[in-house]
Amino acid sequence: MRLLIVSNRLPFSISKEEGDIKLKASSGGLVSGISSYLDFMNNSKISDFEYLWIGWPGADIEKGMQSDFSKQVRADHNVVPVFISEEEMDKFYLGFCNSTIWPLFHYFPMLAKFDQEHWEIYKKINLLFAEKVLEVATDEDVIWIHDYHLMLVPSILREKLGDKAKIGFFLHIPFPSFEVYRTIPTSWRVEMLKGLLGCDLIGFHTNEYAHSFLRSVLRILGLQNNLGRIEYGYRQVKVDTFPMGIDFNKFDSAIEKPEVKNAYLSLKERLKGMKVIVSVDRLDYTKGVPNRLKAFRNFLVKNPEYLKKIVLILIIVPSRIGVDQYQEMKNILDKIVSDINGEIGSIDWQPIIYQYRHISFEQLISIYSIADIALITPLRDGMNLVAKEYIASKKGKGALILSEIAGAAKELSEAFIVNPNDINEISESIKKALETDTAELERNLLSMRDRISRYNVVQWVKDFLKTLEKSKHESEKLKIKIMNKNDKVHILKDFQKTSKRIIFLDYDGTLVPFASRPDKAIPDGQLLKLLGSLSKTSEVCIISGRDSSFLEKHFASINAHLCAEHGALLKEKNGAWKVITHSTTDWKKEMIEIFKQYSIRLPYSLLEEKSFSLTLHYRNCDPEMAEMRIREFIDELVNYTSNLNLQVLLGNKVVEVRNYDINKANAGRYFLEKENYDFILSIGDDWTDEDLFEFLKDKTLWTINVGLKKSLAKFSVLSANDVREILKDISNVCV
Ligand code: UDP
Ligand code: G6P
Repeated sequence: MRLLIVSNRLPFSISKEEGDIKLKASSGGLVSGISSYLDFMNNSKISDFEYLWIGWPGADIEKGMQSDFSKQVRADHNVVPVFISEEEMDKFYLGFCNSTIWPLFHYFPMLAKFDQEHWEIYKKINLLFAEKVLEVATDEDVIWIHDYHLMLVPSILREKLGDKAKIGFFLHIPFPSFEVYRTIPTSWRVEMLKGLLGCDLIGFHTNEYAHSFLRSVLRILGLQNNLGRIEYGYRQVKVDTFPMGIDFNKFDSAIEKPEVKNAYLSLKERLKGMKVIVSVDRLDYTKGVPNRLKAFRNFLVKNPEYLKKIVLILIIVPSRIGVDQYQEMKNILDKIVSDINGEIGSIDWQPIIYQYRHISFEQLISIYSIADIALITPLRDGMNLVAKEYIASKKGKGALILSEIAGAAKELSEAFIVNPNDINEISESIKKALETDTAELERNLLSMRDRISRYNVVQWVKDFLKTLEKSKHESEKLKIKIMNKNDKVHILKDFQKTSKRIIFLDYDGTLVPFASRPDKAIPDGQLLKLLGSLSKTSEVCIISGRDSSFLEKHFASINAHLCAEHGALLKEKNGAWKVITHSTTDWKKEMIEIFKQYSIRLPYSLLEEKSFSLTLHYRNCDPEMAEMRIREFIDELVNYTSNLNLQVLLGNKVVEVRNYDINKANAGRYFLEKENYDFILSIGDDWTDEDLFEFLKDKTLWTINVGLKKSLAKFSVLSANDVREILKDISNVCV
């Protein structure tokens, strides 16, 4: 298998020093996680594993040097760079990605900018990434796209590569609640969701994020899910949870490396006799560092016995300094640190040791190892790998103070869990962590180590890729037979060589698309012309759930048979309406009260009473409220009808109760018993049409379902438009 990893950030970023291009390791959870996995795979020398990492190299390179650079990094690092001009990167990366999506998805809506130009560039750059993927992708590759920078790439790739391509996406940041997501301008938020639905699998760190995503898909696109599976186009998209892990063994064993040990020993010597708290973050307003520092100050003021006996090592890794809020955050941090050190420190002791820079792995481990406490209090964080790295690096005793709003808190519940806005709580947790007895700290550390050692980064990738494979397989199994070009040629040939033809057509969803209200879905002139022309060469029979007066009113001009209320009433061409059921309708009197009751409780629902059935339409209702109420309604109807000869049917946004013996197959039977036909075609979209498909199973090849659900029809097409195309072709056949 070859894995194509696609992310904005590559494992290295370039910097130009005196005309030379230098590569330095990138920072952040995404790079850290994926690189750990790739290191593991490379070290394990798994022979059939290959990969390419496609992404932005971190700075602009002159056009003349791009080709050589690409060749070199591909050969040396399995990397395919995507070159983006500085000007576009400002609007894409600093603009839409980090001034719109990042603040919004981290619940900082007041910082989010909505700039149309940034959105246009976001689309453009997503296309650029997709084109780069298309340059290198083969049919066998698994394509794994990462993070919020590239949410439109999946659908672009899907369109180009078709259903067979295996495409996954993982979001490394939170997916916000629907109420926050909906603040994004309408067309953008729709395109972003549709972009992601180009995947076979979409992964999130926590159930909460997955749930928020599914809710936005329901509320914005109207697509329901079944246990995280969404039917979309001809495919199924799976949404699932994969909390990202770390390379546990690498952190667990790092202290044994001589260079780490040396760094550790020299730090230990320097901080002799001190309790140590560590805090490591990229510079980011989401990380909650000002509150953390205030809490540390508060702790020192309230517990003077710790003065000169404790230090906080504060590592801030430079990040996104081109975005105003990041620059501001840097200024704020500088000031708070210098205020606290100035106010509480002394000549021989600084409470905060502050480093604003990237640090090496060796330094990082030595700091983790020496720290009695890791203080990690983001205001919002998709996961937070630093928390897991600290736990994996600690042997024996160590305490983790962790924000309840970090994704990692879901797996690290033995930590001292705090609210990141509660300065008192954080300050008290520092004291608690320092004074909790060793045995308890060890016990807690052990459980957390055990958990994160099992679901490590390799498991995380394996789990994701296995789920991707499995959902692809399930989706293939469910595949319906889409009517293709050859089938269309075949049906026309069949039509031409026969002479006694009948065509059964459902109405709503088959001949016309659904409208907000049934009375708005009326046949247009073109449709009537088309049916008129078909009726010259075939018997046309419209079998609908509509009542007789609707059909008569709209199809009077067509030489067609009409069948109303799903086959309860029938009117042959030029004949009169007749009832073809023996059902009674006494039940309606009582039942209509239940319908009325629910229709009142479900705003915008529509109650329809027909001769032989009762119907509640809920297409225009709030989808979430409808989901809940309709479930209750069906329960009540099923209870009520259990001793009666009635069936409760759930159609396309409609619930109907009618007698058992009424179904569309009766109408089919009526006509086929009267005459022998050598060409039979039946088209329908709802499961009320399935009875007729079943009846025609051995009688014709030409049963066609409209939509993607499983069907007894032999073929499927996607929409009412496709139906028209087929009917148009048939009506043009010379017979
Ligand atoms: N890290 C880094 N450079 C440093 C210090 C830390 O790349 O100088 C790593 C750290 O080890 C961790 C990652 O950056 O793996 C930060 O990931 P996290 O999930 O905690 O936060 P993010 O930066 O992704 O928001
Ligand atoms: C977070 C994001 C990553 C990003 C990283 C560093 O972890 O989820 O996609 O790479 O921060 O940010 P940067 O802007 O430097 O890529």
